[in-house]
Amino acid sequence: MATVSSPGEVLAVALDLHEGRLSYRIERFGERIVDDSRLGVALRGAEKLERNLSLVSQSTSSVDQRWEQAWGERRWSRDHHRELRAEFAEGVGAKRHFSVVFRVFDDGVGFRYEFPLSAGAGAGELIIEDELTEFAIAPPMTAWWIPAGEWNRYEYLYQRTPLAEVGQAHTPLTLRSADGLHVALHEAALVDYSGMWLRRSEGQRLRAQLAPAAEGWKVRRGLPFHTPWRTLVITDSAAAMYESDLVLNLNEPSQLDDVSWFQPAKYVGIWWELHLDRSSWASGPRHGATTQNALRYIDFAAEHGFRGVLIEGWNRGWDGQWFGNGWDFDFTHATDDFDFEQVTAHARERGVHLIGHHETGCAVSHYERQLDAALRLYRNHGVDVIKSGYVCDAGQIERQDRRGGPVLREWHDGQWMSRHHLEVVRRAAAQQIAINPHEPIKDTGLRRSWPNWVSREGARGMEYGAWGNPPNTPEHEVELVFTRMLSGPMDYTPGIVSLQGRGQPILSTLARQLALYVVIYSPIQMAADLPEHYLAQPQAFQFIKDVAVDWAQTRVLAGEVGDFVVMARQDRHSEDWYLGAITDEHGRDLRQSLAFLAPGQRYRAQIYRDGERAHYRDQPLDFVAEERVVDHGDSLRLRLAPGGGIAVRFTPLQAERED
Ligand code: NOJ
Ligand code: CA
Repeated sequence: MATVSSPGEVLAVALDLHEGRLSYRIERFGERIVDDSRLGVALRGAEKLERNLSLVSQSTSSVDQRWEQAWGERRWSRDHHRELRAEFAEGVGAKRHFSVVFRVFDDGVGFRYEFPLSAGAGAGELIIEDELTEFAIAPPMTAWWIPAGEWNRYEYLYQRTPLAEVGQAHTPLTLRSADGLHVALHEAALVDYSGMWLRRSEGQRLRAQLAPAAEGWKVRRGLPFHTPWRTLVITDSAAAMYESDLVLNLNEPSQLDDVSWFQPAKYVGIWWELHLDRSSWASGPRHGATTQNALRYIDFAAEHGFRGVLIEGWNRGWDGQWFGNGWDFDFTHATDDFDFEQVTAHARERGVHLIGHHETGCAVSHYERQLDAALRLYRNHGVDVIKSGYVCDAGQIERQDRRGGPVLREWHDGQWMSRHHLEVVRRAAAQQIAINPHEPIKDTGLRRSWPNWVSREGARGMEYGAWGNPPNTPEHEVELVFTRMLSGPMDYTPGIVSLQGRGQPILSTLARQLALYVVIYSPIQMAADLPEHYLAQPQAFQFIKDVAVDWAQTRVLAGEVGDFVVMARQDRHSEDWYLGAITDEHGRDLRQSLAFLAPGQRYRAQIYRDGERAHYRDQPLDFVAEERVVDHGDSLRLRLAPGGGIAVRFTPLQAERED
């Protein structure tokens, strides 16, 4: 009925109407990747929009443009795609219309529904009961997935199973076939809509399962509107899958005229000591966020060149079981032992910026009521990044209207929260503040439109190593790179050089903690360990001080989902390159060409690697820091211990004088 292929004729999409029902399929170089998969929506108070359809019109167009990221894994991205727009009507002389738009790139496909005013036959709005979109994956695939609609939001270890054994999964959902085809299912530009889970209906057929709203429906929108893009990155390697910019390309250009006020940077903070239970968020004798302790962290940051200091627990409301007392949080008043004016004045004097903290405990309406005052307070005291938090079980976000009506419960990734997050980001942008939510809604590339939405959590972070229930495995971090990280930056909070949690070890070697700064991208990176632990590991600390956080380019040099990854990134603000590699619980001996370095230039390579006997279980601190001079014709041996890693900084050497 209608077809469109990618600019390089790699992928082809075909739309079909069969007895009035609409479906699509995808091929790569003629091989079927997605079998006929249904399109449509089920509505409340109206018939499903999926039968008796006829094609009204179709058109194609194409785009090839470069655009610049405000900050990111690379400076320049290329949006090169062909678009097919097809409009449908229901029955003969029908009133209900909608369109489906496909954008086909060489490395994947995005499509969305567009509902014009005439989609609802007069009501002016649509209430979506269910999206009927399917993804019937053709070749047998292995899946890396975490469950959706379960209590722990996105914070699960990944399951690796045949796709045919997946239940209900979050996206990004990463798939690989035996011969190396990679498919990542996700979505782009999740705005005022519910997050998409994927539920397997039969075989390898998945269906969109939208996070429900408190009212029981999935989405309620005034007409006209369009859905987020449903995305499939389709490549022949894990590296190309990671490097795809498809999700960003499907987001709108920046809505902010100027974000030069946001500076990618590293930070330290009153944080790990809380998770180690050496101090408390709650006020009292064990309180972590005292004036004295804050001054100590600020001085440490200033001495070692960190721009940011995060302070958690400075405000009122943390006493008792804070994660159950969200309605107690006061975002503008400090505890008695924390002098907000003195601390912020000291930070200013020392050239350090506090990172603000807004833990909501999921009392989100309560937070919204204080939001403007809370942003103003920070803005007036030089705080330009805020870490926020939404700690509660999934589905337990508390929503209440202004009149103080009943408390309704929402999902972290439902339509109401998609609105909430964007509202916070918009209001923060107006105050020149960047946002980093923990327990967030998943990332769908909105940093392109809102570059002050700089990072987020949204997976099992380093904190699990503190609590140990159970700790993150070496494999988890490699899996993150090829799953969670396909969606965008993560505030993983690496750099635990003590390798110790609360009563159990972190499952990592020392060199690996450094490699995490290169392989797990975020424009704000925490040096998460305690100051005294860094002073005890000066060599490792040097790398953490040196490593860049904003990149001109990124290359995945080698890697397989769940096994290992080798990445090189070039600093956006110097000529330096950094290489990072991590492996799962298996040691690896790799040889890596340095051809990514500039030809004709010699570099000092500062290498931080696992020692000969290093092993994440019994020799995690066996560590070597050494230097060599290299150029782009050289190769480097990467000996990764089980659970290990390597980090390298390459700095151009001055041209030698010719006398
Ligand atoms: C969970 C966050 O992930 C963590 O970083 C934070 O310290 C606590 N919530 C308290 O807000
Ligand atoms: Ca968390």
